[in-house]
This record gives sequence, structure tokens and C-alpha cells, in this order.
Amino acid sequence: MIQIYTMTIIAPSLLAADFLHLGNTCEMLNKSEAEWYHLDVMDGSFVPNISFGLPIIEQIRKATTKVCDVHLMIVHPEKYIEAFKKAGADILTVHYEACPNLLDTLAQIKAHGMKAGVAINPDTDIQVLKEFISEIDLVCVMSVFPGFGGQKFIEGTYEKVTTLKSIIQNAGAKTLIEIDGGVSETNAAALVTAGADVLVAGTTVFKAADPIKTISALRNC
Ligand code: DX5
Ligand code: ZN
Repeated sequence: MIQIYTMTIIAPSLLAADFLHLGNTCEMLNKSEAEWYHLDVMDGSFVPNISFGLPIIEQIRKATTKVCDVHLMIVHPEKYIEAFKKAGADILTVHYEACPNLLDTLAQIKAHGMKAGVAINPDTDIQVLKEFISEIDLVCVMSVFPGFGGQKFIEGTYEKVTTLKSIIQNAGAKTLIEIDGGVSETNAAALVTAGADVLVAGTTVFKAADPIKTISALRNC
């Protein structure tokens, strides 16, 4: 039997980058083995913090051909789908908790030519996504409470990932599993074993002495 091994996708979160030198950061990431850029948009309402928005994403889009994975931690994400498409998002992830009409929002994202992601908070039951799973391209499992980088990884995430993996497999879906928050070289291998396809890493990458090496180590975990 031939087995195909696919590498874990690493998505550095630019929330932990030096905003004064974003151009240098993009040059470094473009040379690295990271396949995605993870871009965290916070509105100070859905989460108790404000990060960056459309103008920054537009500039980053010009600086890379890699996948721009935009994580919206905002209320009413459905109002901004077209704007984020224009800014350059390839994947647009909305929070389950912020979408009263999730199916409609996912359909709109796809109609704009983007992949549709759904992020889920640590205290939301993963089973709520079961009925939508075949419409979701990516589930972003929050392994910290959204709003801030540099938080401690929540250990209960492994069980959530295992459950999600079986929901995806039982549905015959192709949904990718992304883990966001507190990812490091200590938990990366176990997360991939549990079923993760994409690892977001902010602090671990940008506070490392050698970010390129760290990205490579995470990818080969
Ligand atoms: C948290 C964000 C994360 C964050 C991860 O709300 O969604 O993407 O930047 O940062 P680290 O890897 O430092 O936990
Ligand atoms: Zn994120």
C-alpha cells in the first residue's frame, strides 16, 4: 500500500511580529517553509483587544504570494466579506460564536472566491459544527481564548481535535483542522498526531532567535 505523507502547514501569526518592520518580516517568511500567513483581525468587541485591519492586509498581500489566512475576531463578519476579499484574503475565517446565520456567511465567503473557515472558542462544544462540516473548508480550533498572543495552550484541545477529526471523517469531508494559540515545539507533534493539518504560531516563531529554523522545526515535528 502506498502511503502519502503530507507536511504540516505552518501559519505564522503576524500579531507577534515587529510592526515597524513588516517588510522585513514578509521577506523572512517568504524565504521560510511557512506556507500561510495568519492574520488576526480584532475589533475590541468580539474580543477585548484591537489589532489591525484592512490597510495592513492590503500591504502584506503585495509583499507575498503565500496564502493569506485571515482570522476575523469581529462581530458581524458578514458585513466585511467583500472588503477582505479585496484586501487579498485567500481564506476567511469567521467565529462560530459571531455568526447567527453561519451557512449563509460561509456561502458568501465562497461566492467571493475564498476558502471558508470557522473558528471555535475553547468553551464551545465542537459538536455544534457537525451539521455544517461539509460546508467548512477549515476549522480553526482555538487553543487559547481569542484576543491575545502569548497565552498558555489549553490542554483540552487534543480531545477536541480528535473528536473533530472523526466528525470530518464520518462526513467524508475534506475540512482542514487548524490549531490557534500557544502552539510550540513541545505540543506540535502531539497536535499533528491528534489530527491537526495547520499550526498557527505567533510567539513561538517571532520571539525565536532564528524564526526560519523554528518554522522548519514545527513543520517537521
Ligand atoms: C489569538 C490569535 C492567535 C495568536 C496566536 O486570539 O488568534 O492567532 O496570534 O499567538 P500565539 O502563537 O502567541 O499564542
Ligand atoms: Zn488567530
